[in-house]
Amino acid sequence: VGVYPKDKSTLLPRPISICEIDKEKNQLRLVYRVAGKGTAEFSNLKTGDSVYLLGVLGNGFQVDKAKPGTKAMLFGGGIGVPPIGTKGNVMDAVAANGLEADIIYACGPMPMLRAIRQYAIEHDIPAYISLEERMACGVGACLGCVCKTTHKDAHSHVNNARICTDGPVFEAREVEI
Ligand code: FES
Repeated sequence: VGVYPKDKSTLLPRPISICEIDKEKNQLRLVYRVAGKGTAEFSNLKTGDSVYLLGVLGNGFQVDKAKPGTKAMLFGGGIGVPPIGTKGNVMDAVAANGLEADIIYACGPMPMLRAIRQYAIEHDIPAYISLEERMACGVGACLGCVCKTTHKDAHSHVNNARICTDGPVFEAREVEI
């Protein structure tokens, strides 16, 4: 979703992924790090305050479509969680713990996603990765969020995709990162 700050000097919505949906309570949970003026403003919101949201935008993880019994590896990183367990990067942890999976889902910093993409290609495992980028419009109009793709776009005939509308989740082989 794009979340609009009230401060008019921060004109554009801040793109934030949905962490959880509680349909019974009609609630969304958004988890974010304070990274600038917009998110600093959000961090001061109190219960009962209102914010304007644009969304739901883009294509998220389709975890619920995985076949029953599928072994999935989930990776997340980059929100300041202290390291526990295996020392090293996520691929070191996968190797050290002999982890195997039929499918991978990942979000986090780009070096981690690159390593996961490489691992998925080498091991012939489908992998879905969520890319992050600064966004302006959030609806595919400004091209401020494009990433390189391995295939040409059918309309524009260039190797680009918009992270805000075509992603943010891509099959790892679709994108050059
Ligand atoms: Fe404008 Fe993606 S943010 S096209």
